[in-house]
Amino acid sequence: MSLRALPKVELHLHLEGAAPPALIRDMARARHVDLSGIFDAAGGYRYRDFTAFLRVYEAATAVLQTPEDYARLTRAVLEAAASEGVVYLETFVSPDFCGGRDLLAWREYLDAISEAAAASERDSGIVMRAIVTCIRHFGPDKARQAALCAAETAGAFLVGFGIAGAETAGRPGDFAYAFDMAREAGLGLTAHAGEWAGPVSVREALDDLRVSRIGHGVRAVEDPALVDRLAEAGTVLEVCPGSNIALGLYPDWRAHPIDRLRAAGVKVTVSTDDPPFFHTTMTGEYDRLADAFGWEAADFADINRIAMAAAFCDEATKDAIA
Ligand code: ADE
Ligand code: ZN
Repeated sequence: MSLRALPKVELHLHLEGAAPPALIRDMARARHVDLSGIFDAAGGYRYRDFTAFLRVYEAATAVLQTPEDYARLTRAVLEAAASEGVVYLETFVSPDFCGGRDLLAWREYLDAISEAAAASERDSGIVMRAIVTCIRHFGPDKARQAALCAAETAGAFLVGFGIAGAETAGRPGDFAYAFDMAREAGLGLTAHAGEWAGPVSVREALDDLRVSRIGHGVRAVEDPALVDRLAEAGTVLEVCPGSNIALGLYPDWRAHPIDRLRAAGVKVTVSTDDPPFFHTTMTGEYDRLADAFGWEAADFADINRIAMAAAFCDEATKDAIA
């Protein structure tokens, strides 16, 4: 069975984290920025652990300087996703990287990204929506500024607000004000949790940020009561197994908890997170899940239904895709 052609819904992808290394290298060369330290001999991104990954991610992101750069990035990312069968994609974008949280600048970046997404939709049919993400290790003040940018630009294209970055920096409650602002603006809410910290981090994201989706969330499996809570509440996990394995959270695919969480009734979905960093694609994720757990086309269809229902876009968009 070829899983490439299967229509896929992806809810968790960082726009800069999906940048093809060749694109970043090109832009760095044109700007005379020396980025040789972030690439390995094969031309891929090089990092040792999660902390180094974040450093390389931010170094690569620093060459994306103008709204036009982000338009070019968006086109490249959507072309790659469409070739994997992705029909609907939510990508994290960050006012921290796009205009330094200045609202006027942010609008220019968002317009460029949205126009590029519309062009890709005309070309291949792929539909993209954006989620503003604040960066946890940049602290609550910057998160509030990012949330303000998100609230001011919420609409048909910008549909959500979230938090990424180092999960061990601060506590979810520190970011409650930013999430309250985003909620009042009508944005869908998601938080990275249960990746680098355990079940407490997931509980706090649910209690203090009142999110409907959790980025990763896989370490909830360490607490059976929390697994029951997630299942009962219908909280959706944006699971990125290839990312977790590449970053050493689990030794191999069979050890990954996605199948156990699903069997316990938790709504799991599948995404790539930062595909070139983790040498993965959506088809690659599906192939590995089929190998490890015997998942078949019907299982993937079920997961995609869950993902589409949990998407932050409006109902008309969902109806047009389903
Ligand atoms: N930013 C990009 N990828 C991330 C991940 N896997 N966890 C936290 N922050 C991120
Ligand atoms: Zn992520």
